[in-house]
Amino acid sequence: MIKKKEKDILILGIETSCDETAASVVRNGRDVLSNVVLSQIDIHKRYGGVVPEVASRKHVEAISQVIEEALRVSKTSLDDLDAIGSTYGPGLVGALLIGLSTAKGLAYGAGKPFVAVNHIEGHICANFIEHKSLKPPFVGLVVSGGHTHLVEVLDYGAYEILGKTRDDAAGEAFDKISRALGFGYPGGPLIDSEARRGNPDAIDFPRAYLEKGSLDFSFSGLKSAVLNYLNDCKMKGTEINKADVAASFQEAVVEILVEKSMMALKKQNSNKLVVSGGVAANSRLRELLKEKSENLGFEYYFPSMPLCTDNAAMVASAAYYDFKSGNIADLYANAVPNLVLGSRYKG
Ligand code: KG4
Ligand code: ZN
Repeated sequence: MIKKKEKDILILGIETSCDETAASVVRNGRDVLSNVVLSQIDIHKRYGGVVPEVASRKHVEAISQVIEEALRVSKTSLDDLDAIGSTYGPGLVGALLIGLSTAKGLAYGAGKPFVAVNHIEGHICANFIEHKSLKPPFVGLVVSGGHTHLVEVLDYGAYEILGKTRDDAAGEAFDKISRALGFGYPGGPLIDSEARRGNPDAIDFPRAYLEKGSLDFSFSGLKSAVLNYLNDCKMKGTEINKADVAASFQEAVVEILVEKSMMALKKQNSNKLVVSGGVAANSRLRELLKEKSENLGFEYYFPSMPLCTDNAAMVASAAYYDFKSGNIADLYANAVPNLVLGSRYKG
């Protein structure tokens, strides 16, 4: 049995928005008591990407055991919990519905409040778990397979979007180029490791900065340039140095992300940058952001690797801040596949 102080708040978080079935118990939004993540990557990599219907079926098979394991490891029972939170968007609708329905069923059965969590906010909250004294306000860079956002985090749960991608997300670009190079899925970690053996200056791929002062992103031009380069080499019979392509592509993505983050900090008169999402695991992004931030005197924060990619601890942390501010959802909450950052479940 968990020893719980009177004022402690224990939340069970559930995450099934894409290809990870995850559950976690977090105390007071910051202390992880358990963090169970069952990845479906080995199944989807056969198809070169996530197959939505397969993802939903695998979530159904795993969700109960994953939740039981999260409760077991944290030595909590449903009775000990103050609330149950689940991602309700954005993500794959069929996948989202599994975690959401399970969470609502558990909340109803146990008579506990239910909290509907925005997945992108969850990514940002991963940093509250990692850095115990981190508090808003700060500038957030969220870079994942589905999202690329620069955001001013004004307070817990209060966001102002400064810029976002106009086409592909950064992680999506990594995944598509990885496929074109024949590395497979998920592309980010594979390109990251291949790029270590390559020359980032070998090929001068374009960097789209868009209009002067814009904090939006665009990766589709870069993606086309890499695909054209590969086709061109094939047509001419030129040998392709895959490590050089990976390193040059990665350098272009990372430079844009870092440059725009520095612009955002200056524009917002902020000195704190908080990075999150799967692409935050990229070693070159971590290196260049560290270098630039230190040169310019900015503080920078990343989650540790397991908290960069999808997990339920970040969902439980986001649920805690919603719970504290009274954002409790009713049991009619439905999945919202295209949910935007900052939008709250209104009922
Ligand atoms: O946050 P996440 O697990 O799921 C979404 O919410 O989308 O992010 C997954 C994305 C994938 O596109 C994956 O290729 C990318 O994060 N990723 C990376 C790295 N590790 C994961 N991208 C670049 N470098 C990495 N080391
Ligand atoms: Zn995610």
